[in-house]
Amino acid sequence: MIDDSLSILSVSRLSKRYAGGHCALDAVDLDVRKGEIFALLGPNGAGKTTLINIVCGIVTATEGQVSVAGFDISRDFRKARSMIGLVPQELFIEGFETVSATVAFSRGLFGLAPNPSRVEQILRDLSLWDKRNSPMMALSGGMKRRVMIAKALAHEPRILFLDEPTAGVDVDLRRDMWALVRGLRDNGVTIILTTHYIEEAEEMADRIGIINRGCIVLVEDKDRLMKRMGKRQLTIQLHRPLASLPAALSERGLTLTESGDALVYTFDSQRDRSGIADIFRSLADNGIDFGDLTTTESSLEEIFVSLVRAP
Ligand SMILES: Nc1ncnc2c1ncn2[C@@H]1O[C@H](COP(=O)(O)OP(=O)(O)O)[C@@H](O)[C@H]1O
Ligand SMILES: [Mg+2]
Repeated sequence: MIDDSLSILSVSRLSKRYAGGHCALDAVDLDVRKGEIFALLGPNGAGKTTLINIVCGIVTATEGQVSVAGFDISRDFRKARSMIGLVPQELFIEGFETVSATVAFSRGLFGLAPNPSRVEQILRDLSLWDKRNSPMMALSGGMKRRVMIAKALAHEPRILFLDEPTAGVDVDLRRDMWALVRGLRDNGVTIILTTHYIEEAEEMADRIGIINRGCIVLVEDKDRLMKRMGKRQLTIQLHRPLASLPAALSERGLTLTESGDALVYTFDSQRDRSGIADIFRSLADNGIDFGDLTTTESSLEEIFVSLVRAP
């Protein structure tokens, strides 16, 4: 259960049908907790950008509610929007502007008074201070992305949306971005990032939401998901079906399949397998003959693929 007082973004029954009838979001419910890194993972076309764009007021929802730090985006749009920084999927660059002017201007867009020391702090935090007087067009791709983040932070938002922050970015820069995002979270900013890279969600997120065809199919703590992913299952095919499971076997964590013709043992693949030797001893002690043994292992990749597979 989510404690409402900890939720900074609350999305309820949110739907979007674009003109032409395409349903990009279908009654999405989602809560993001204050101070977390939440990764919204999904294939291209799943509805990630649509969701972000609705929250940021760029796209209008067909149905549903969104509130940001308690402000409803339709009733209190300006207050809600002031809480949010957005780094969009497509970067917009004003080539001749300097880095510091670009960031300072963005602050002004939110009606905030100029605050050079705040802008300096942001530029220093993002290792852009040395580049403050460079025109945007003189920067490398990685630096431009940093400026986009600086711009999004200029009005001191409490939530930062990063829409596909590392799409098409090389590995080194991707790692830099991850470190940078963690630093922001450590400064108290809630981070919501979208990605279609499983690896990125795995690396960065406190929680992972999986979206497919406009529906949220899973929201789970990353560590819990990884633990689940680390599970292996051993299936022991029996020569003669059992009507019930002997107590000695159920104590060892075995379960009997519904048809009674196989035993299943789920174990943690990280841990040693000493339990398995004990199980075989118990089977012998109970006079249970078995045939085929199979083991299966689930990975996040498999979980993801099975969840987003076309019906
Ligand atoms: N302006 C638009 N008009 C019509 N359809 C759109 C528009 N924007 C996005 N879509 C469609 O909505 C679906 C979700 O798109 P999008 O939110 O961009 O997905 P994602 O960011 O997960 O790749 C896609 O099928 C896309 O083609
Ligand atoms: Mg997108």
